[in-house]
Amino acid sequence: MHHFQYRNGTLHAEEIGVPELAEKYGTPLYVYSAATLRRHFQAFDSAFNGLKHMTCYSVKANSNLSVLRLLAEMGAGMDIVSGGELYRALKAGVPASKIVYSGVGKKAQEIREALEADILMFNVESMAELERINKVAKSMGKVARVGFRINPDVDPKTHPYISTGMKKNKFGLDIEHSLKAYQRAKEMDAVEPVGMDCHIGSQLTTIEPFLEALDKLIAFYNRLKDMGISISYLDLGGGLGITYNEEEPPHPAEFGKALSEKLQELPLTVIFEPGRVISGNAGIMVTEVVYTKKTPSRDFVIVDAAMNDLIRPSLYDSYHRIAEVQQNGRDELTVDVVGPICESGDFLARDREMPAVHEGELLAVFSAGAYGFTMSSNYNSRRRACELLVDGDTVTVARARESYEDLVRGE
Ligand code: LLP
Repeated sequence: MHHFQYRNGTLHAEEIGVPELAEKYGTPLYVYSAATLRRHFQAFDSAFNGLKHMTCYSVKANSNLSVLRLLAEMGAGMDIVSGGELYRALKAGVPASKIVYSGVGKKAQEIREALEADILMFNVESMAELERINKVAKSMGKVARVGFRINPDVDPKTHPYISTGMKKNKFGLDIEHSLKAYQRAKEMDAVEPVGMDCHIGSQLTTIEPFLEALDKLIAFYNRLKDMGISISYLDLGGGLGITYNEEEPPHPAEFGKALSEKLQELPLTVIFEPGRVISGNAGIMVTEVVYTKKTPSRDFVIVDAAMNDLIRPSLYDSYHRIAEVQQNGRDELTVDVVGPICESGDFLARDREMPAVHEGELLAVFSAGAYGFTMSSNYNSRRRACELLVDGDTVTVARARESYEDLVRGE
């Protein structure tokens, strides 16, 4: 459920009409709903009420400071993957004791910054990284808390670009190497193994792959215990999917129930790193129709948002629902919704049936709150869009639209 609904044929973001927002702030425009973010965080977090757990929102999904601050106020921790995300999380007021750090390529400087902040734990993805963390921590006179990211070799049945827990992926350590890694970590003086971690992929729409991975992790945990290694945290990553079109992913409550049954017995604090399920349907992108164009083979709707603003359709062939901001009751047409960028891959939808639209009308691209703005770029020297956070009838400019000056800053 989200708070983007039609009232008398006009799309509203909570209490505010979207046309008003587009008029005042221009397009393309990202609009996030605070009530939806709160609701989604609450639904996810409370699904694990019976367990000792932490919900560490995955910053990469939507890293706007206003969004992070709102979640931090609700008690969220954060999952980060770079020095930049650490900077954002701290700036948003997230306590370092609730920050976990994943990623295959952490640089010494980033490790130093995370140790300086005293984050909860590094999710280590290779032996080389373990050595690096030990070295950096030692030079600072600190001890780094680590967990190893275990690659359980489970097929998450999602898009290949966002599958991460299969043998062929670059992520984590396979089970046998993980055992060696814990042994090695135990010998090191500037590293303390405190957890284990896995993240098998994103936009999963069934629970089975999660359960399969969890079974493997529990078996591994028991082997660790037998080796005399005791840990305190089990990080199960993110990945729960959302409805873009007709997917029917499990509700967080169902997800929580299924996992909790297996987790109940373990004397561990469980960490989750949800991204998309919190922010995905809490955001829309609003765009204006610049032209319509009929060619002998197709009808095009040319809009002022492009692949630089929302790359998911171009990159993963992802579906995003697109609808008129003011319902117009016209007959449906099959169209390609495309942007102004000089690439044939620049589209938001292809072969889409939707009511005919005219120049100057507004369209809303739904489910754009995760991996939307965060994956945007300046390609074709397009200024990155404005982001708004709506809370009831209050609007905050969460990020101002870039200026031409911003475009050349540093050049
Ligand atoms: N934890 C780790 C270690 C991750 O790599 C990710 C996502 C998450 C948590 C959060 O996953 P989520 O709950 O959002 O599924 N750009 C792609 C998605 C890439 C996901 C990368 N990792 C997309 O637009 O679909």
